[in-house]
Amino acid sequence: MAVERTLSIIKPDATKRNLTGKINAKFEDAGLRIVAQKRIQLTPEQAGVFYAVHKARPFYGELCEFMASGPVVVQVLEGEGAVAKNREVMGATNPADAAAGTIRAEFAESVGENSVHGSDAPETAAVEIAYFFSGLELVG
Ligand code: CMP
Repeated sequence: MAVERTLSIIKPDATKRNLTGKINAKFEDAGLRIVAQKRIQLTPEQAGVFYAVHKARPFYGELCEFMASGPVVVQVLEGEGAVAKNREVMGATNPADAAAGTIRAEFAESVGENSVHGSDAPETAAVEIAYFFSGLELVG
């Protein structure tokens, strides 16, 4: 399997509860390397550009406000099959459906406040990584 990179976001519900280290341990235990990481505060507009694909969904406004409600940690995870592996470690979008031991099963509060985001495909990952990181910030 090819070595890939994927974009991960530790969301405001998780940074608020001081869970960054516990979530990062889940990634590292699964063999994913955190090759870039920074803690930032998004505006609702910046969150809106990131989630533009969901613009027509009824929860879009709520999602943008939530993502701007506190700091987020944006990060690039690297490893074999990193996109799929990260989605496995995160668990299903709705924590009620997430498998035991996954980040969302253990930490997420609701479908909206679900602790983490991960890219859904290598092509999406490239676009999402470029939204937050310059080439100089990706040291491997
Ligand atoms: P994420 O993987 O970041 O991608 C889109 C986000 O929209 C998703 O996680 C959820 O946090 C959010 N989302 C999806 N469905 C709903 C919903 N029904 N209500 C509120 N937020 C949602």
